[in-house]
Amino acid sequence: FTLEIDPEDTDKGAYPYYMLKEIDEQAVVARNIAGHYFDEDGNLQGIPCAVTDAIEAADRLYIVAAGTSYHAGLIGKRYFEQWAKIPTEVHIASEFAYDQPMLSEKPFFIFLSQSGETADSREVLDNVKKQGYPALTLANVMNSTLTREADFALPVLAGPEIAVASTKAYTAQVLVQAILAASLGNPGFDLKAELAKVAVEIQAITDEKESFKKIAEDALKDQHSAFYIGRGLDAAVALEAALKLKEISYIQTEGFAAGELKHGTISLIEEGTPVFALLTQSKTAGLLRGEVAQVAARGANTIVFASEELAKEGDAFVLPQVNELLMPLLAVIPAQLVAYYATLARGLDVDRPRNLAKSVTVQ
Ligand code: G6P
Repeated sequence: FTLEIDPEDTDKGAYPYYMLKEIDEQAVVARNIAGHYFDEDGNLQGIPCAVTDAIEAADRLYIVAAGTSYHAGLIGKRYFEQWAKIPTEVHIASEFAYDQPMLSEKPFFIFLSQSGETADSREVLDNVKKQGYPALTLANVMNSTLTREADFALPVLAGPEIAVASTKAYTAQVLVQAILAASLGNPGFDLKAELAKVAVEIQAITDEKESFKKIAEDALKDQHSAFYIGRGLDAAVALEAALKLKEISYIQTEGFAAGELKHGTISLIEEGTPVFALLTQSKTAGLLRGEVAQVAARGANTIVFASEELAKEGDAFVLPQVNELLMPLLAVIPAQLVAYYATLARGLDVDRPRNLAKSVTVQ
């Protein structure tokens, strides 16, 4: 069903759960972000020169985040390195806080956070400020601790996110990082036009709910473990996809760099184990097909989500084609929907999984 949705609205409306509403809002969020950061002529706006100057003065970016935001940072790294040509490291806040790695001479810190309140990230910001390093926060909740205490802050513009499992904040963080990286360098294609296409295709995927409901019910209803595999950017999306599924359905799910499977983890594959493969990166598509065949030969139930250009007969879903570097924005959507429907099928509360909080303000 299609509804008029306002990402700023905190009412569930006709939706049974916030998570489904927030999944559906992603196309609008993508348009809103493009509308905020591009003017009508396609020029970037809304990123102060002070921010780009400070980043350009740095020799390395350190993205620090937790949970889903950390996973969004793994995608952003690619944009900062490939488009802006700045070496970029991505760190888990709770690790960085107590085991600070050796830093470059002129580091610049980017804090990614939906809430802007995550204690682990705040601890790192405190530490790096004491060392005199500059920091930018990209947050969904502006006027939060992380936005107030960093030198600079930019809005992620996902609108209020209420379901514990983060969905639209992830895509919004990926989008804003792409835009920031484009403001520092050159993607080599028309980012504004491609993002308009991304918004259309997100909508097209969210319109296919019945397909993902069926996949979830068939593959996951009675399973106790599952895998998401991919290579390159798809390996990073696999981590987020696995987190979505495990955190709400309680199916133990590992997200994995596909080439690493054979070094131990493949021994966990049993008859019927669901293995979802994300296949959107042409450079490694052949290798990933091989890995899918290897797990299938050991009894796995393989479910391939492939991009249009790389799809083959038998794949479970064909993702519309956009620029490969932006494919994570599409590849994550089926995983969000599969997690949602698997959780429903298991009779669990999608929006409020046990043991979890939306914002973790203790270390
Ligand atoms: C909590 C939430 C996650 C979130 C993480 C980081 O664990 O349940 O969904 O990704 O915190 O939160 P942040 O607000 O910093 O993005």
